[in-house]
Amino acid sequence: MTTGTPTTTTGIPSWSGEEGVRRARDLFSQTYGQEVGGARATPPDGVWAAPGRVNLIGEHVDYNGGPCLPIALPHRTYVALRRRPDRMVRLASDDAEPTRWEGTLDDIRPGGDIPSWVGYAAGPAWTLGQQGAWLGGFDAAVVSCVPWGAGLSSSAAIECAMALALDETHSLGLAGDPAGRATLAAACVRAENEVVGAPTGGMDQAAALFTREGQALLLDTLDGSVDQVPFDLGRVGLALLVIDTRAKHTLVDGQYAARRATCEAVATREGVPTLRQLPDPQATLARLTDPVEQRRVRHVVTEIDRVGRFVALLRAGRYDALGPVLDASHTSLRDDYEVSCAELDVAVETARTAGALGARMTGGGFGGSAIALTPTDRVDAVAAAVTDAYARRDWNPPRFLVALASAAGGRVDGAHR
Ligand code: GLA
Repeated sequence: MTTGTPTTTTGIPSWSGEEGVRRARDLFSQTYGQEVGGARATPPDGVWAAPGRVNLIGEHVDYNGGPCLPIALPHRTYVALRRRPDRMVRLASDDAEPTRWEGTLDDIRPGGDIPSWVGYAAGPAWTLGQQGAWLGGFDAAVVSCVPWGAGLSSSAAIECAMALALDETHSLGLAGDPAGRATLAAACVRAENEVVGAPTGGMDQAAALFTREGQALLLDTLDGSVDQVPFDLGRVGLALLVIDTRAKHTLVDGQYAARRATCEAVATREGVPTLRQLPDPQATLARLTDPVEQRRVRHVVTEIDRVGRFVALLRAGRYDALGPVLDASHTSLRDDYEVSCAELDVAVETARTAGALGARMTGGGFGGSAIALTPTDRVDAVAAAVTDAYARRDWNPPRFLVALASAAGGRVDGAHR
């Protein structure tokens, strides 16, 4: 697969597997290696990794029973972990604040007084315990090349890398088959919802645990089923440019929760568990009198429809026709769901003017990243145009990466126990 890579120095590099493993092992031995008194440092039991993602289409529908279509990025979070004989938990990450944390398994729980990154990292241990798994303490070093807070699912990457590490070190036997992976994904979602307090859906964790190289993951959140859809843009001279706006993105500030609550309230009133299950969406829309509710539901209903069209086009090899579907998704997220922001709108509009076939915000919104489906030979020009547009407005310079559909998480240091 060949695609263009922005030559701009603002590209967000991804690490090779070897580099990720080396960095995780280095941080592990720097942090925990000293205690053996200068003799041979005890190595971690292994290194596990899970990817960030971009969602191609199907935004803000994963908590409405809808379908979505993420791909995994080559950017991954790596966890070197050693099981402990007691209930202590020690965590190290050079990117987080604070960089070291120490406590016990009992400190990891909803309402516990822990930094949010510790909730993401250790939250899955709490959920797995709630689900009946026996878990002891652990020492872990977390390193990542998934940009934090860019809407590229850095949080699910930590959760899922950790869940995979705990699964193997505690012989839970879940990572080896799809049903087990679904259990791990659900444990990570619950950790994010309950331990961290971010009421997100399940797309990001499914992307981290079920994606395949060269494929987009069609996740149907109504029944949890997954399907793989070939996604090889390089073959047709296209690339997916990801634009990190560097506008602050957070899912814990109430805006995301408010959107979710509105959708759930309408579904309840209509007598269905999720908006996906509305028997006659147009009739519901006609009945709604509150303009905000009407806009939110219209986004969900039309976005679900767009996923179907997008997947049909992909399966038919009609890559040339994908752009308008992406554009319509952005308009709907901006005007009906109201989760875009000036930085995302400028990125999307500028990308289109500079030659992208279509563009839209991706992920939760309110900042974060946009994607632009771009002819390979226009990638640099699109990146340069967005950079200029931001400079003219005195905004932080955006960053870019060209997304290649990558594989789900797993053990990455080769040595299986
Ligand atoms: C965030 C959440 C996902 C999903 C998207 C919007 O990324 O974590 O569950 O709801 O927003 O599609």
